[in-house]
Amino acid sequence: MGYIKEFIINSKEDTKTLAEKIAPFLQKGDVIALYGELGTGKTFFTQKLCEYLGVSENVNSPSYVLMNEYNGKYSISHLDLYRIDSEEEVLELGLHEIFENRITIIEWAEKAEGLLPQNTIHIWFEFDNSHRKACIQSYRDISYLIS
Ligand SMILES: Nc1ncnc2c1ncn2[C@@H]1O[C@H](COP(=O)(O)OP(=O)(O)OP(=O)(O)O)[C@@H](O)[C@H]1O
Ligand SMILES: [Mg+2]
Repeated sequence: MGYIKEFIINSKEDTKTLAEKIAPFLQKGDVIALYGELGTGKTFFTQKLCEYLGVSENVNSPSYVLMNEYNGKYSISHLDLYRIDSEEEVLELGLHEIFENRITIIEWAEKAEGLLPQNTIHIWFEFDNSHRKACIQSYRDISYLIS
């Protein structure tokens, strides 16, 4: 189960603040699993998180290439599994090897649910009637993250 916390992110500034709070909390080997319908802000959150992790290059959605790699404070792999149909296809990307010694951020993580390691931080993005929120479930205590 782990620790659960909800954040209201009605503006891009709110999402940026959330990314700023989470970035220093991350450790090598962590997997950030992002869930949420189209356009709920998974890529935008990833862009801000990468900025706070010291990535200076452009962070773009890897929906066609499936995986991008960046370098900042850590090596970062950014995946978008929207076009993936099975966990076998995910395995072909070499996911297990890439989890090590880096931070891995996965959009549409439900496509790889059975492959996610124990040290995964899950974030669900929701957007309805102009209200946005992010629900975080972490295996490490996140209670000090102020909502
Ligand atoms: N908290 C927010 N408040 C307002 N707008 C936001 C917020 N977060 C993201 N956006 C905007 O919403 C749009 C969609 O965001 P984004 O591309 O990150 O969604 P996504 O979940 O990655 O979508 P997809 O599933 O298609 O990859 C972008 O224009 C982005 O700037
Ligand atoms: Mg996206």
